[in-house]
Amino acid sequence: MDLLLFGPPGAGKGTQAKLLVEALGVPQISTGDMMRAERSSGSELGQRFDAYMSKGALVPDAMVLELMEKRLRQDDASEGAIFDGYPRTVEQAEALHGLLGKLGRRIDRVVSIEVSLDVILDRVTGRRVCLDCGQTYHVRYSPPPESGVCAACGGSRIVQRKDDVEDVVRNRYEEYKAKTEPVLAYYQPRGVVVAVDGTGSLEEVSARIMAAIEGAAKGA
Ligand code: AP5
Repeated sequence: MDLLLFGPPGAGKGTQAKLLVEALGVPQISTGDMMRAERSSGSELGQRFDAYMSKGALVPDAMVLELMEKRLRQDDASEGAIFDGYPRTVEQAEALHGLLGKLGRRIDRVVSIEVSLDVILDRVTGRRVCLDCGQTYHVRYSPPPESGVCAACGGSRIVQRKDDVEDVVRNRYEEYKAKTEPVLAYYQPRGVVVAVDGTGSLEEVSARIMAAIEGAAKGA
């Protein structure tokens, strides 16, 4: 299955994608995580990504396409993927359609996770992440251990992402409204979009997403 988790910054795409990996048996593909890994490596490409990411602006489509072409050629993505934070422009959606088409695949379901701007600001500014394994915490809703040691990997580098401060989050939200929200209109005529309420506990949101995916499996 090729599933797209869609929504504004902080909607819960990454959190929910991680919960789905085992259930669906396909990998999470997060362009944001791939870009952060490149940036941490100190490469010249990573520095180019950082110039956009640190301001909350989208990275240009051509750079994203190059990343995605390489990622979809990897063996673990041969049966499908959970796309998280991609595509983010109509041009990226068209490019993905072409890439998947060459593999005889298409997006089976777009789950649009809906949350308000207030919820976004609360979630994103409170987020903490483990630099070693990517585990996500929230200072109030799923606090990191007091010891500062990551519960998932034992690492001790739990930090706030530098684009998770309020001014940058507001820019990311503006980018989302202007460039990413129109991606939904691209998928609507294909009959694959389901909107899901993203508020409530992780388990409640997860159950709504599973129901939306099961609808896709039954051809609903
Ligand atoms: P990216 O890393 O993709 O960030 P994003 O889309 O803005 O999404 P987030 O990671 O902020 O949020 P999320 O929806 O995954 O929420 P999460 O599950 O963590 O992109 C970052 C940057 O990279 C972009 O700004 C851009 O510059 C660049 N980029 C990436 N992809 C690109 C592309 N395709 N094209 C161009 N540029 C690109 O949850 C958030 C918090 O809320 C967490 O703390 C979590 O614990 C908490 N939480 C989640 N669900 C719940 C719940 N139900 N209840 C309570 N708390 C919850």
